[in-house]
Amino acid sequence: MKFFIDTANLEQIREAQDLGILDGVTTNPSLMAKEGISGYDNVMAHYRAICEIVDGDVSAEVIATDFEGMVKEGENLAVLHPQIVVKVPITKEGIKAIKYFSNKGIRTNCTLIFSSGQALLAAKAGATYVSPFIGRLDDISTDGIGLIADIRLIFDNYGYETQILAASVRHTMHIIQCAQVGADVMTGPLSAILGLLKHPLTDSGLAQFLADHAKVNE
Ligand code: G3P
Repeated sequence: MKFFIDTANLEQIREAQDLGILDGVTTNPSLMAKEGISGYDNVMAHYRAICEIVDGDVSAEVIATDFEGMVKEGENLAVLHPQIVVKVPITKEGIKAIKYFSNKGIRTNCTLIFSSGQALLAAKAGATYVSPFIGRLDDISTDGIGLIADIRLIFDNYGYETQILAASVRHTMHIIQCAQVGADVMTGPLSAILGLLKHPLTDSGLAQFLADHAKVNE
């Protein structure tokens, strides 16, 4: 499973990259706003800065909601850097834009997926990735991981190459469950990724090893 980090914070992206396990970055307008990035030139410069830190795909979301606007924005984003993947919401106009980008060889991430039907449409339109938001489904007492499993079944039934990018991952257990049901990618916060390292028996075991070593090496 690929590990993407879901942030526009350059420091956190660098920290994840330094771990050596980072495969890409996802952003969205809320995450860009959280970092105070505004204005066309600043936004483009920020995406470029992210691409210079990581080796993998960087999702950059269009703001337009009409087909022509999405195409214009997406084409500008795609030429910014070869690692950019154009993120498009799952709407009627969005599906048309994904099909257009797919025909042009521009890679896309179809976002705001909350049902397997939406994921199926995005795959048919040629999306490179679909992003089901598992945490937001859990928030409304709906099984987010179950959706990933449903989409996995559907994509495997027909051999769709669209990758399932589990998004709105909130914690470490989400990451493990995504791997159990066969998500191709998960995108989450650095805290959830670092949480995978933690185990009290690792801490106590290491402390014991170091203490025993010190006893005979004083
Ligand atoms: O990747 C989508 C993500 O940014 C949404 O996460 O935690 O706002 O539901 P969240």
